[in-house]
Amino acid sequence: MTGPCPRTVQPVAATTNKAPSANFSLDIAISLEFSTFITQVGRTNTQEIHSIVDARCLRKYTQSPMKTVFSGIQPSGELHLGNYLGAIRNWVELQNEFFCFFCIVDYHAITQDYTPKEMRGRVLDMATDILACGVDPEKSVLFVQSDVREHTELCWVLNSVSQFGDLSRMTQFKDKSQRQEHNINVGLFDYPVLQSADILLYKGQFVPVGQDQVQHIEFARRLARGFNTRWGKVFPEPEAKLTSTPKIIGLDGKAKMSKSIGNTIPLGATDKQVRKLLAKAVTDPQREKREDVGDPDKCNVYSLHGFFSSEEDKAWVREGCTTAGIGCVDCKTKLGDNLIETLTPIRNRKKELLADPDTVIDILNQGRDKARQSAAKTMDQVRKKLGLWQR
Ligand code: AMP
Ligand code: TRP
Repeated sequence: MTGPCPRTVQPVAATTNKAPSANFSLDIAISLEFSTFITQVGRTNTQEIHSIVDARCLRKYTQSPMKTVFSGIQPSGELHLGNYLGAIRNWVELQNEFFCFFCIVDYHAITQDYTPKEMRGRVLDMATDILACGVDPEKSVLFVQSDVREHTELCWVLNSVSQFGDLSRMTQFKDKSQRQEHNINVGLFDYPVLQSADILLYKGQFVPVGQDQVQHIEFARRLARGFNTRWGKVFPEPEAKLTSTPKIIGLDGKAKMSKSIGNTIPLGATDKQVRKLLAKAVTDPQREKREDVGDPDKCNVYSLHGFFSSEEDKAWVREGCTTAGIGCVDCKTKLGDNLIETLTPIRNRKKELLADPDTVIDILNQGRDKARQSAAKTMDQVRKKLGLWQR
């Protein structure tokens, strides 16, 4: 990050506690530091604040520029535990350390069958869910892909460094083609190029995703390298940032938790629904009867305890399961209690946001404005490197 420190913008942004607008990455870093400073020492005179902000600005951008995180999610209608544990939980943590762009990728979603009339609601639902999980618009940029035209523009450019062979080896393309044989469209094939454009447009260095996306992120790395070699360096090579649980298994105990398989626990499920879904969850297949002892390490329900239960509860389940002291129903009841405890605040925040959809729309609009600034800057660089007609 170069250029002068736009200090005059910062105190206003920080004191009004609004997400800053101009030169967003820089703004956010300074305003975060600024608000910490205000909290620590209380208000002081403006001149003093300016010089402190200036000094921190310089230090930050000459010595330790903050890295950029980019991630995206399709407006699939509802988040489930797999998305939450594999990706969104990571987004919430990363926003305290990095400049984060989080994008609802509606252009990706049109590669699959869908009902246009439902799209707007799906996007809003996803934004609401993401915010309810703790993504904070004061720290991160949350926006909708189709709101920033440069995504599709950069996708076209990157097509010229994408190899047909690489794309035809993409596992998700093969899976999705099998699932919708009647509609194997070019968008489905080109999907990873648009995904790469999403990331590279913001010069994303880290991409928090689940295991299933790693192949796409490696492809994005190759495209960044391909672009830089052919036209000159513009892009960093992004890296996938996995959680400790990059693949959550679904309630069937077999496949990845996924809406398309129908083996999920939606984050918005009611207490009753959570318990009903858990009741049908597959446990250790060796434990057929209540008197059989079980092996928690072969049980997907026990692995879910790992995320939601205390050490004490996990020890109680392990002991009870391995001695047949408790049955699977007892184990599931305990998991249900703990899971509901985690989900309750998320559901409550969601309820508040649903009652106030204008706030969610405002957040997306502000995100769009910030994303557009970064995207336009990158596309200017790209056009210059390509030798395209300059306006
Ligand atoms: P999707 O719902 O498939 O669009 O995925 C959205 C995000 O959640 C991506 O980063 C996925 O890698 C992640 N994800 C989806 N399902 C799972 C799962 N079962 N385990 C871990 N991560 C997941
Ligand atoms: N393909 C991702 C998924 O299905 C969604 C996505 C689109 C994405 N663009 C992205 C993820 C950029 C990370 C970065 O989950």
